[in-house]
Amino acid sequence: MTQADSARGRVIAIDGPAGTGKSTVSKLIAKRVGAHYLDTGAMYRAATLAVLNAGVALDDSAAIGTTVADADIRLDLGDGGCTAYLDGVDVSQEIRSDHVTSAVSAVSAVAAVRTKLVAVQRSEAEGEFVVVEGRDIGTVVFPDADVKVFLTATPEARAERRHRQNLSAGRDSDYETVLASVNRRDHLDSTREVSPLRAADDAVLVDTSDLTLAQVVDTLDHLIRERIVSPASDAPTSKTGVQS
Ligand code: DC
Repeated sequence: MTQADSARGRVIAIDGPAGTGKSTVSKLIAKRVGAHYLDTGAMYRAATLAVLNAGVALDDSAAIGTTVADADIRLDLGDGGCTAYLDGVDVSQEIRSDHVTSAVSAVSAVAAVRTKLVAVQRSEAEGEFVVVEGRDIGTVVFPDADVKVFLTATPEARAERRHRQNLSAGRDSDYETVLASVNRRDHLDSTREVSPLRAADDAVLVDTSDLTLAQVVDTLDHLIRERIVSPASDAPTSKTGVQS
């Protein structure tokens, strides 16, 4: 990456549903190419925590909108990871709790929440070289991103990964329950009216079902170098679809 690239601001958009290995891959690839990492899901989680802390009902869109509008939600991009702050307090751990996870789809479906957080995401990325991870990055937040990747995997492969993660973290886990939760979140995220989860037309689809983490990172590394670092980087993108 040249200094000119950083000054101009470069965006690598990584979208896709939960359980595709998106977060791990995004962090690793950001490190490898020397970019900051911006986890937009953490912002929706911090917004959800603000709503839960305020005791607002999850079906009260208007109250959710005003609560989130009043909340100060920021990510620290400078720390190599992605520390999330809600009103100046580090909430990086708390936003991973089950009660936040079960409420986040409802909060992230509210239009006013998305409008606010998209603005914060654009301002945090301005002038930076960033890997931005989310659901609507290539479609809504950065439609002109330099590289757009959409990670996919079968619901079964994603549930299996989550299930194994739970077990290795010492949490109780039942595969069928995890699979049902994966399907439920997919349905909510892809059918909501505002910014539903979908691949941008010019995104490269990478099916991670049968790929190792290292293979996925290498695939993205190759794409990024081809499109950003090589002289042909301004050529139009195509939907090549990387299959395992
Ligand atoms: O990536 P994650 O599981 O931490 O995201 C939490 C939730 O936030 C997820 O249910 C979908 C939502 N989300 C979103 O609607 N738009 C984004 N850009 C990122 C996450």
